[in-house]
Amino acid sequence: MNHSLNIAIDGPAGAGKSTVAKIVAERLSYLYIDTGAMYRTLAYAALTENVDVNDGDALKALLDHVTIELVNDESGLKVLLNGHDISEEIRTIEVSKQVPLVASHELVRVEMVERQRQLAAKGQTVLDGRDIGTHVLPDAKVKVFLTASVEIRAKRRHEELLKKGYSSDLEELKKDIAKRDEIDSTRAFAPLRKASHAIEINTSLLSIDEVVDAIIDLVEDSVLT
Ligand code: DC
Repeated sequence: MNHSLNIAIDGPAGAGKSTVAKIVAERLSYLYIDTGAMYRTLAYAALTENVDVNDGDALKALLDHVTIELVNDESGLKVLLNGHDISEEIRTIEVSKQVPLVASHELVRVEMVERQRQLAAKGQTVLDGRDIGTHVLPDAKVKVFLTASVEIRAKRRHEELLKKGYSSDLEELKKDIAKRDEIDSTRAFAPLRKASHAIEINTSLLSIDEVVDAIIDLVEDSVLT
């Protein structure tokens, strides 16, 4: 099928957005844009450059001086900061703890949203994040809001960290996830919430394939209507 839509996938941390978005993009030969990775990259840059994550002006100045690239290749998605591959570094617990603060500044978000819209300008993209359907691409043809319980999300993250050889404490993760949900959904500017026409899919009891198939069905329906 030949079409050129943008697909917005939003939801809280650990609902399965990036796994699902990546496969949907592959199945449709679309470009996958992990917007969380962009915020994580800025958080990582701030930590390594000793920039205060509470200082929006300083973060914006830092953002203006760095390049963030998302490269999709056979080995998966690579994230480059000033040309250096930092795909692993942006997934550490330290970055995960700081990134909601970095992402809460309006100055930072305005610039990130601009970059994300440019990446999506040609269509045929799958963007995942928190504000894609509500703010970045309010006209996206297909909008999905993925959810799952805090317990399930913490368990998935726990298993992912252990598989990668990191240490992980499940109870600690539950607390972190609940805390991140709170910061992401109560921030003043572009908080996490379901877009009005987004289709909500609770992934707690679904396999990855079932979620992917449900989204591909939505794409096919929207092409036909
Ligand atoms: O999806 P993730 O866990 O990689 O996201 C990292 C952080 O960035 C998380 O705190 C939410 C925030 N974020 C955001 O505010 N807006 C987006 N479009 C994507 C992520």
